[in-house]
Amino acid sequence: MPAGVGDTPEIHRLVTWILIGLAVVTLISTSVMTAPYGRHTSKSWGPSLPSRWGWVLMETPAVVVFCWIYMQGQHRFETVPLILLGLWQFHYVQRTYVFPFRTRSEKRMPVFVCAMGALFQLINAYINARWISHWGSYDPQWLMDWRLWLGAGMFLAGWAINFKADAMLIALREPGESGYKIPRGWLYEYVSCPNYLGEILEWTGWAVATWSLPGLAFALYTAANIGPRARSNHRWYQATFEDYPPERKALIPFLF
Ligand SMILES: NC(=O)c1ccc[n+]([C@@H]2O[C@H](COP(=O)([O-])OP(=O)(O)OC[C@H]3O[C@@H](n4cnc5c(N)ncnc54)[C@H](OP(=O)(O)O)[C@@H]3O)[C@@H](O)[C@H]2O)c1
Repeated sequence: MPAGVGDTPEIHRLVTWILIGLAVVTLISTSVMTAPYGRHTSKSWGPSLPSRWGWVLMETPAVVVFCWIYMQGQHRFETVPLILLGLWQFHYVQRTYVFPFRTRSEKRMPVFVCAMGALFQLINAYINARWISHWGSYDPQWLMDWRLWLGAGMFLAGWAINFKADAMLIALREPGESGYKIPRGWLYEYVSCPNYLGEILEWTGWAVATWSLPGLAFALYTAANIGPRARSNHRWYQATFEDYPPERKALIPFLF
């Protein structure tokens, strides 16, 4: 068995709790300030790089480090861990190497934001990959377990919502355009940020499918990170467009 990681269950649990603590810190900080990228980007955060490459660098640990850690695990060739690996990579290969090149954004991202994102993904990849391929235990009976299939269904539904919502935003710009328009139709009639809603559903599905503390940690972090950002984007739309639909909510139809 490969022994490249060299951790213990105690170390793994401690790091997972650190990520949960980070989710709390993130919720507090994103509630009082908005991460400076995309429409909220700012030059006051020091050196920057093209956003597109920022996304690639920031998310690469979620693809590469995740695979490497996964391959060190004792359960790496078992069916359920392989299904979970497939779900994870289905999301992250798209997000890291396809999404940035589909966007029509010439924005820049502060190096600081990119570095923080990459650091987060390093920790996140470690706790989740290590759990599914080594410290967790998914015997073949898990293939009959409702948690795996409900979670996978939520994950894929969330992915589809996220992908379509991002595609609709990207299509608002003609090639060479850089401004913002009011998105209309489909879930945009109900909320300003269906892409974030899909993303939160996806990682909640991951938490259900893995039925694990690392899965829960990432779902909590995602909600803490983009829940408040949805509110900031919503307020930005309201302040920017006089004719912004008043009945539209930020993230959750009819509620928030
Ligand atoms: N798991 C997590 O914690 C997490 C955290 C952050 C993001 N994400 C995911 O990463 C993806 C991108 O996030 P994001 O915060 O960059 O999303 P976003 O602000 O909605 O932007 C997505 C893309 O659409 C463009 N765009 C947005 N609104 C537009 C409008 N009204 N008119 C024209 N173009 C518009 C943006 O251009 P500009 O870049 O020029 O604004 C960007 O290229 C999303 O799928 C999100 O769910 C996940």
